[in-house]
Amino acid sequence: MNLRTIENLDVRGKYVLLRDDFNVQIVDGHITDVFRIEQSMPTINALRAGGARIAICAHLGRPKGARNMEYSLAPIAEYMKIPLVADCLDKDFMKNMRDGDVVLLENVRFYPGEEKNDPDFSRSLADGFDVFVNDAFAVSHRAHASTVGVAKILPSYAGLLLASEIENLTNVMENPARPLLAIVGGSKVSTKIGVLRALAKLADTLIIGGALGTTFNYATGGRVGNSLYEPDQKQNALDILEYAKQNNCRVLLPLDKGVAKEFTAAAARTNKDFTEIMDDDVIIDAGVATTERDVSEIRDAATVIWNGTVGMAEWQPTWSYGSFAIAQAIAEQTRAGKLVSVVGGGDTVAALQACGVKDDITYVSTGGGAFLEFIEGLDLPGIAVLRG
Ligand code: 3PG
Repeated sequence: MNLRTIENLDVRGKYVLLRDDFNVQIVDGHITDVFRIEQSMPTINALRAGGARIAICAHLGRPKGARNMEYSLAPIAEYMKIPLVADCLDKDFMKNMRDGDVVLLENVRFYPGEEKNDPDFSRSLADGFDVFVNDAFAVSHRAHASTVGVAKILPSYAGLLLASEIENLTNVMENPARPLLAIVGGSKVSTKIGVLRALAKLADTLIIGGALGTTFNYATGGRVGNSLYEPDQKQNALDILEYAKQNNCRVLLPLDKGVAKEFTAAAARTNKDFTEIMDDDVIIDAGVATTERDVSEIRDAATVIWNGTVGMAEWQPTWSYGSFAIAQAIAEQTRAGKLVSVVGGGDTVAALQACGVKDDITYVSTGGGAFLEFIEGLDLPGIAVLRG
């Protein structure tokens, strides 16, 4: 991997700027999913045990360079029981720090220089620190001041989570047990063209579901009614199908669908084959036959890579049927030792959690966009800068 990591690094008494990804959902001041925070703990604990003086730098949402307290990291500091430094450029807290202390710096995206990777802002952020550690895999696809800028100024290392993400995802891409099944759902073809092409090359079978699958159904002449899909992505969808064919990858599109007359959680569900879909039908989930086929494909696979739900999994139980069946089948096969499973993406991980099977999966990534770009084979800027 050729990456500088924190293993064997002497951090005693050193001021460490640690980048974590705490971009979690917060509803009414409460964190709805602590997965990213919990996955960051081993590095924080290792640095503390080594006697570092740690300031964690993180972002929340997209405050567009303005100090908007709606995006404050206060609920995260409270959850972690650590002090929050109200301004990420304020260095006063350093004076009172002892070895092993940890603080959280307020949202780094409150400054416009962060997303612009502004050199002056990077210098101000790095000022006073001895070492930079990036453990924020999930934001490593962004060339920002706190991922790339500071890494060019300070001696920089990968944290344990970042190293583990790279190792696990690289393994599944380079040495997968075959047959390799990839399942890609979600809503937009436009955001997944790169990863679909990469998986069409890598996988033996590619299941395309969700609204993404609806766009592929549309592209191949299927009826889609009043559903969410992207008509302008027709050619891209056809190109991906052709590319998969050239690479001997079998692509499986949705067969039937769970449909309703309105796009709401409470809408009544009917199962319809494509030929039966009416102009006022809205597709909200995978159908029964599609789900049975998906489960059977999972049972035949030796490796599964899954990103993107195949329906509105958060509208439980009516519309989570297809995604939950996939989650449960993957978990069952993994538990039985018959499958290596790798799952990434916020909604997909939430579906695993809602089914209570997250801990059964071989590797669950903290990345959303970063997971997709890594699987696509791109060199993420926040990782590239740590190499050498
Ligand atoms: C994520 O949640 O995927 C990362 O934190 C990146 O967030 P962004 O898409 O707002 O840059």
